[in-house]
Amino acid sequence: MTARIWGIATAFSVSVLGSALFAAAYALHSGPQWEGLGLFVALGALGLGIVLWAAFAIPAEQVVDVRDDYPSDRDERSEAEAALEHGLAEIDRHGFLTKVLLAALGALGVAALFPLRSLAPGFGQGLYRTKWRRGARLVRENGVPVRASDLAVGSILTVFPDGYVDDASSQTLLLRLPPGVLAARPERRNWSPQGYVAFSKVCTHAGCPVGLYRASTYQLLCPCHQSVFDVAHAARPISGPAARALPQLPLEIAGDGYLQAQSDYTEPIGPGFWQRA
Ligand code: FES
Repeated sequence: MTARIWGIATAFSVSVLGSALFAAAYALHSGPQWEGLGLFVALGALGLGIVLWAAFAIPAEQVVDVRDDYPSDRDERSEAEAALEHGLAEIDRHGFLTKVLLAALGALGVAALFPLRSLAPGFGQGLYRTKWRRGARLVRENGVPVRASDLAVGSILTVFPDGYVDDASSQTLLLRLPPGVLAARPERRNWSPQGYVAFSKVCTHAGCPVGLYRASTYQLLCPCHQSVFDVAHAARPISGPAARALPQLPLEIAGDGYLQAQSDYTEPIGPGFWQRA
């Protein structure tokens, strides 16, 4: 194979590596710099390979074959055979290059599928699920777990499942209510040990973080459009545009004294797509 064939094949191979880099950077959340580098290499090398191939495939000079009126002699026939063999070899090389080009295009196509995950939260089941699981410890934003003895009555704290402090869909408000305040539904009686209750921080109106707590009336307020939720009654909305209660996270206290979830939320968090019909 000639050097030019290897040059084109190398360009397509580098493009495959660039696509792999892009896909890996996206999957591992390595940041836009690495994703951009991968995409630059993939597209740049692919374009370079195509340009080189086109430049070499098109003959620079025009050739006119004059028809001969007499039978060819032996030398001419040998030359014609050699030319034909050379042409067949060229066709073989083009087949090889076509395969490498298809590999580069295929790798780029597969890499392009990865960003589809970003088109919807969680892509698949993210509309229904968060990172909370049975036994997941409640941790602060700095990752420190919360003990049952940590919060005074009337306190509020934003918590996340252990290991997912950057997961916006899992952000949760932990509150400690005085005894006798909570009007728990029968099926939720064991969700609030020692007066601890936890509700999704994602507002059910338009998804803003519900961050203001009025301890004197046990009310949570969303600052975006002033929806108010009654914590003592399962965080049901009592004013404002929100039409659905904040989902409640079932809690329990582990044997070592740390607070943990009994399961994921039992209903979808935030504003639901079913409400947008
Ligand atoms: S987003 Fe909370 S009231 Fe609108």
